[in-house]
Amino acid sequence: MKYAIISDIHGNLEALETALKEIEKEGIKYIFSAGDIVGYGADPEKCIELIRSRGISSVMGNHDYAVNNTSEEELFNSYARLAIQWTRNTISEDAKNFLSSLPFSVVKDDFTLFHGALDEESPFNYILMPADSELSFQNLTTQVGFFGHSHVAGCFIKSENGIISYRSGIIDCEISIEEGNKYLINVGSVGQPRDGNPNGAFAIFDTDKRIVRIKRFAYDIEKASKKIIDAGLPRFLAERLFEGV
Ligand SMILES: [Fe+2]
Repeated sequence: MKYAIISDIHGNLEALETALKEIEKEGIKYIFSAGDIVGYGADPEKCIELIRSRGISSVMGNHDYAVNNTSEEELFNSYARLAIQWTRNTISEDAKNFLSSLPFSVVKDDFTLFHGALDEESPFNYILMPADSELSFQNLTTQVGFFGHSHVAGCFIKSENGIISYRSGIIDCEISIEEGNKYLINVGSVGQPRDGNPNGAFAIFDTDKRIVRIKRFAYDIEKASKKIIDAGLPRFLAERLFEGV
């Protein structure tokens, strides 16, 4: 079985459409989203429609959550706050209800899916370094977990002796899933990468070959960026897409 795991689309329709085309080329039918469908980008409603029409299961990201929970936006920086207020005023009631229905995590036979951390009390904590991943590894009941949130693709590997190491996913890479190890894989961001590579990112999990591939893809940044400016959103949100920051 092959799964694609996407995350942090952030209302970037051009990036989402390109990611879905790449996934189709790979012949993958089962797609999961690790959250943050909306926020920052100019097409939140269309991204939600596409996720729903393709039957993609998603977990709740902090921006998805903030649409219906204004207290969450107090934790946001000024750009994120302006963008979530714009998103809240732009999307339909139906889209808001869909976002409020998303679960914080999903456990499948082959993997677990979450947005920030496997932490019931603080699901939007960040896993940036090996030390941040300890609690999530403790709570992980499958061998592999996929997440997003930092917009930086990479993999935390916990070996049998408990040592946690890290592998970057800034460029295309393959991670082989070996017995005895556990894996927390940040699939990166479809719509707003922040690891210095402006190409979008997602992961492919081949459960027969026991391989996870982090794939990077180019998309029409010019178009997505222009829409952000035309929508009256902060210019920085348009410019950062070209830099991957
Ligand atoms: Fe995000």
